[in-house]
Amino acid sequence: MVTESPTSLKDPSYNVSCKLNTPPTLLLLFRTLFLHVHLLVLTNKHSPDQAQLKPSCHSLAMASGSSPFTTSDVQTSSSGFRGSPTLLCTPLMGTTVDQMLVEMRKAKEIGADIVGIRLDCLKQFSPRQDLEILIKRSPLPTLVTYRPKWEGGQYEGDENKRQDALRLAMEFGADYVDVELQVAQEFNKSIDGKKPEKFKVIVSYHNFHDTPSVEAIGDLVAKIQATGADIVKIATTASDITDVARIFQITVHSQVPIIGIAMGERGLISRLLSPKFGGYLTYGALEAGATSAPGQPTAKDLLDLYNFRLINPDTKVYGIIGKPVGHSKSPLLFNESFKKVGLNSVYLHFLVDDVEKFFNTYSSIDFAGCSCTIPHKEAALKCMNEIDPIAKKIGAINNIVRRPDGTLTAYNTDYIGAISAIEDGLRGSNGANPGAGSPLAGKLFVVLGAGGAGKSLAYGAKEKGARVVVANRTFERAKELADKVGGKAMHLHEVNDFHPEEGMILANTTSVGMKPNIDATPISKEALKHYTLVFDAIYTPKDTRLLREARECGAIIVYGTEMLIRQGFEQYKNFTGLPAPEELFRELMSRHA
Ligand SMILES: NC(=O)c1ccc[n+]([C@@H]2O[C@H](COP(=O)([O-])OP(=O)(O)OC[C@H]3O[C@@H](n4cnc5c(N)ncnc54)[C@H](OP(=O)(O)O)[C@@H]3O)[C@@H](O)[C@H]2O)c1
Repeated sequence: MVTESPTSLKDPSYNVSCKLNTPPTLLLLFRTLFLHVHLLVLTNKHSPDQAQLKPSCHSLAMASGSSPFTTSDVQTSSSGFRGSPTLLCTPLMGTTVDQMLVEMRKAKEIGADIVGIRLDCLKQFSPRQDLEILIKRSPLPTLVTYRPKWEGGQYEGDENKRQDALRLAMEFGADYVDVELQVAQEFNKSIDGKKPEKFKVIVSYHNFHDTPSVEAIGDLVAKIQATGADIVKIATTASDITDVARIFQITVHSQVPIIGIAMGERGLISRLLSPKFGGYLTYGALEAGATSAPGQPTAKDLLDLYNFRLINPDTKVYGIIGKPVGHSKSPLLFNESFKKVGLNSVYLHFLVDDVEKFFNTYSSIDFAGCSCTIPHKEAALKCMNEIDPIAKKIGAINNIVRRPDGTLTAYNTDYIGAISAIEDGLRGSNGANPGAGSPLAGKLFVVLGAGGAGKSLAYGAKEKGARVVVANRTFERAKELADKVGGKAMHLHEVNDFHPEEGMILANTTSVGMKPNIDATPISKEALKHYTLVFDAIYTPKDTRLLREARECGAIIVYGTEMLIRQGFEQYKNFTGLPAPEELFRELMSRHA
């Protein structure tokens, strides 16, 4: 039975239950009822709005069991536990004490707040001697964990010895120990009355299969708290990014210090956004290969890439949705820019499987917009309330903005990025005045390729008054696109002999010439003589064979990197309503290319 009611536990329902020694079943019931009522409030409060915007989307969310994560979840956070800013803990995974000592110094240099000493990683362990060294020599506060095999760790020995080591850690001055829910009651009882003032017990629950319902997690929180935990830790597994919303719903409303994590790559945002949603701490690995749990980012990425220290409950969340998405450099560009400009916003990697479910779940205005990449550029269209007319014609979007009323507006900034780069290339050559209409008007514009980028270029060129020709390996796709833009279609191989006039514009949007096939080119050098300007959408490498040969033929060349960077400017403008920090974007791009 619970004998201690920790002073930091602020929710009256918890404290009262603990003080009265309420039987665990009743305690669970209180907690479950609290959550049910709470969820009903959330659902009812937002149903009318949601129904008005997207009735089908909303009912899908309800039917599939994923509750929309709405504005009120964020707004009510001010009543939840808000202690010091979320701490960053770096787990030490060394197999010897000496390695751990080196690691703890590195963790401090990187900027972690706490080191997590994983005793179960040590190949040899002499509790008294090693704990004293590790705890006393640590330059940072220590969190000691001795994870048994049955909870996902590496320790297989005697349970009493394991708990003895944790008690010893407390005596040597550890700041925290992490104890598993299964043994927490017995452990907490054993240290009752002996706890140093600053010492805290984290009672943890791990689920390596899934993320339970909000009610079930709420029950677990109550169960953990009833053991006398100072800090509650729930680590579940995300099989979909929307699972993380259930963790946020728990942490944001928690009246007790709580660590909420959804493990796995689909749970990344649970770790990144813990300062926004009230997490007591989050874990950041020392380096990429040294994670203590699946999906853990490095401490360095948390701090430098995602601006972890700047995230707070009011931070607006942006990101790139895609699958795969981890390779995207967009978070780097946007986060660095947000920081420089002083915007309270963060831009994340969103690994999304089901776009509709994603938008229905993260429907709060705090999820203020996203970029959209393969394979979601077309599927995302169905979830929008408003679509820019050209993006609609192209049939693909890559930039989504949530309006203050919660509605979603989509754009295709790829075409703006590419076409403006080509226009500026032409203007630069003849000194034309940007105000004097598009230099593309009336030009013969040959697009190689009929995929996503091909569509953007063809529609964009047509919009500017060019005469469009589409050449593609698969003729049918060229024909379909050419018909839509009122142009002419041909096979890709025909383009070598196509020169009805001089001064044409060429835009390659096929992947021919892209890394690793850098010696390939979609058109002969001979044919390039008939073009005034050649653009290549490929940006890896920057200087493709096509562009090198075009330069040799005297054509103006426009790089794919220019399209990439300019589409980013447009996204930034749409997200923030401010001009993009163009110089900074360019500098970051060249630094991280
Ligand atoms: N710079 C930027 O910001 C930016 C933005 C978007 C895309 N891109 C680049 O543009 C290129 C295309 O991207 P996407 O999104 O449009 O891809 P996509 O939708 O898959 O289209 C690929 C296009 O390339 C053609 N293609 C592929 N392999 C070919 C081959 N061996 N020979 C001839 N044609 C071939 C395809 O022809 P079929 O129809 O016959 O398959 C299709 O027209 C990529 O290199 C991508 O990196 C750059």
